[in-house]
Amino acid sequence: MGKKRWRLGHKTALLMTVLILEGACLGAAAGMLPIGVQKDWSYRDVHEAAEHEAVKADSGEAEKVVALTFDDGPHEKYTALLLDGLKERGVKVTFFLMGENIEGKEKLVRRMQNEGHLIGNHSYRHIQLTKEGEGTVCEAVEQTEEVIEGITGERPRYLRPPYGDWNENLECQLDMTTVFWSVDSLDWKLKDVGKIVENVEKKVSSGDIVLMHDIFPTSVEAALMLVDRLREKGYEFVTVEELLID
Ligand code: NI
Repeated sequence: MGKKRWRLGHKTALLMTVLILEGACLGAAAGMLPIGVQKDWSYRDVHEAAEHEAVKADSGEAEKVVALTFDDGPHEKYTALLLDGLKERGVKVTFFLMGENIEGKEKLVRRMQNEGHLIGNHSYRHIQLTKEGEGTVCEAVEQTEEVIEGITGERPRYLRPPYGDWNENLECQLDMTTVFWSVDSLDWKLKDVGKIVENVEKKVSSGDIVLMHDIFPTSVEAALMLVDRLREKGYEFVTVEELLID
């Protein structure tokens, strides 16, 4: 069930290339620190390091698509609100769930599945995977696979590493596709509906994967507002899988 089985369209190939480059950028950013300086990576640092130019889809296409993605959930209250709003609007998104946040929220995970959203893996807790031994990483990813499969009956095939931090030495991704993002909404930092919406609207174009987090009320409100506003501009919303395999 690896990438190779998929028909790689023009757009997909482009997107994959950019995603690989993004991984390289992160590596470079980490490598640029002066020797001897112990860098304490924070959530903010790595998210900022990961921000880069938007991925552009074929400009000739009439259809404009964007994939909204939500990390770090599920959250009892805000994920539920988001699901309500998306259902009302008939919009499908992608959730990258954090294993340790799932317990007690199995209903929300079932809802995601029943309502047609794509469920991916965001590891078990928010660890920086390249700082861990391969065994620990694989265990954290596998543990989350099992928790999700136990609820939905399906093993997620898409992995978004915490902080977008990954490299090819982390071999346990063999059967999974690693998905980064092309637009960081900065919702985790801005925590302001208007600013989040403005930031995404300014950067987004067709074919983009937008990073958001369904654990903040401002993110959920901004996401629903974005759906309405981008729709007015002719955008359709797809899951990451629909965007990648087209
Ligand atoms: Ni995260």
